[in-house]
Formats: sequence, structure tokens, C-alpha cells
Amino acid sequence: MTERPRLVVTRRLPAAVEAALAERFEVQCDPDDRPLSAAALRRAVASADALLPTVTDRLDAEVFAEATGRCRVIANFGVGVNHIDLAAAGRAGCIVTNTPDVLTDDTADLALLLMLAVLRGASAGERRLRAGAWDGWGPTRDLGRRLSGKTLGIVGFGRIGQAVARRAMHGFGMRVLAWSRRRPTADTLDGVIWVGDLDALLPAVDVLSLHTPGGATTRHLLDSRRLALLPAHAVLVNTARGDVVDEGALVEALAAGRLAGAGLDVYEREPVVNAGLLTREDVVLLPHLGSATVESRVAMGMRALENLVAVFDGRAPRDRVA
Ligand code: DGY
Repeated sequence: MTERPRLVVTRRLPAAVEAALAERFEVQCDPDDRPLSAAALRRAVASADALLPTVTDRLDAEVFAEATGRCRVIANFGVGVNHIDLAAAGRAGCIVTNTPDVLTDDTADLALLLMLAVLRGASAGERRLRAGAWDGWGPTRDLGRRLSGKTLGIVGFGRIGQAVARRAMHGFGMRVLAWSRRRPTADTLDGVIWVGDLDALLPAVDVLSLHTPGGATTRHLLDSRRLALLPAHAVLVNTARGDVVDEGALVEALAAGRLAGAGLDVYEREPVVNAGLLTREDVVLLPHLGSATVESRVAMGMRALENLVAVFDGRAPRDRVA
């Protein structure tokens, strides 16, 4: 029997995925299900044939410093690859792949969930009820604001941004404006109004939803200056990457009443959440749940496996990003 390639998997994966990986690879996985240290990642890159990391692993240049050329592919479990130094991986001879498409619908659903939860005060209301502080219905009590018919601004018009736009237009009758670095093709716009200047889009929206990749080019894209361009009644939703927003500036804007609320699924220093957010009733805070459904997580694992198999079969992987 030929020796199977050695694969380091950094976190526990759904059982069906672990079983499928084990059929094809000699899998080493961390039974503790904790993010690997830089030293463990460095060892993995030096000694394994492939690595299957997640968003919680920081694969910076240092991790590739002792690469031996053995590791042929980094098959990321997730679509975002801002935690991987793609240039350093390339210099070390590693192909990098991701898992697009399969988590688009769940992440888009979560963005809508956050919009509704913030505008309708769902989290604050539930907290009050559980605390025994709800003493019943009243015509002027617990009033939120309507999502239907409002104007949504989408920042980043890739797969997830487009899926959010479809839900907003067809499910909630919203007017949708979108900004992205490159002008989208007419067929992807399909009723969405593209605005070439982000600063011009911001004052026109009731809800702003972020869908750009993370990393150096989008870090603090929403800084204090841009947050100040949003109307005071606007709500910010972030299901993309935490560092797209300057979290400190966001806390200041909320505290000063320059922004009505925020729905966040991602944070600048995960799993640490800015203390200034934790105490606010006008924010809804979720623990990076975008792709967290059984369906998405199994599909992400199978897609990572498909990419790994392609590389070891000598074919071009479907989702090569570098
Ligand atoms: C992604 O796919 O990028 C999600 O944030 C989980 O990693």
C-alpha cells in the first residue's frame, strides 16, 4: 500500500468530514480543539504534506520560515484567508485554497438576522424578559424600527454581499446601494444601485452591511471619519472581518449618539470583545456564527477535502487563492 500524505488538521471538524479526510490522508488533528501555537504551526508546515487550518490559526511569514518544501497545500476551512500570509506561503511552495460558495447563504442569513435583531431590540428585549424585568405589553413599550422598505448599503459586493442584496430586495422590499472596489457586472447588480464612492454611499443608508475581505487593504475601512458620514439613525452590521471597523471609533460613535446601533458577528481581537461594546443595549453581539450551521460546516470540510485531493492527484484545485 502506498503511503498516504500526512495532513495536519488544526481543529476538530464535523465527524463526517474527519472520516472522509481519514480515508485519503494520514491525519494528525489536535484533540483539544484549541488554535495551534505559532511553534506548532511552524512544525506542521515543516513536516506535513498538507495543512488544513481555520480562521483561528495565524499563518504569518514566521510560520513559513522553516518550511522544507514538503508542505504542498494549505487548504483553509473557510472563505476568508486574511489570517494567512499568501506571499510567504507562495515563497514556501505552498498552494493556498479556500471554501467559497458553501457558506454564502448562511452568512447572508445571519446578516439579515443582525439587522432585524438590532432594529427590533430583540437581544435587549430577551435579556429584560429573562431577568424578570418584563411586566407586559404596552402600546408605547419596546418599540423598535422597521427593516422593510429601508435603504441598505452593502460594502463589498462579492458572493455574500450579493446574497444579502437579494434577501433585502426580495424579502424586505429594501432599496439596495452597493460599493465595491471594482464595478460589478450588470447581471450581478440585478436591481442594486452601485455607488462608486464609498463616502457618497454612507450618508444615504439606513442600514450598512459589511462584506469585504479582511486584511491590510480593508483594515479600518470604517474609521471614525467614515462612521461620522452615516446618518445618526443608521445601524451598522458586520459579518465580514472585525478589523474592517475601527472598534474604538464605533464605541465612541454609539456613545455619542452618532449611530443608532450595531450588529456584530466579528471583532478586531477575537475572541476578545471590546468592553465598550459589551455594556451597550443598542448592539447585538454574536460569537462569529456566520458559517456556523451543520450544513455549511460539513460542506466547508468536504470542499477543503476536494481541494486537497485535487492537489495530491496532480490536478488544479477548484478554489486556489494563491
Ligand atoms: C470564513 O469562512 O471566512 C468564516 O469567517 C469562517 O472562517
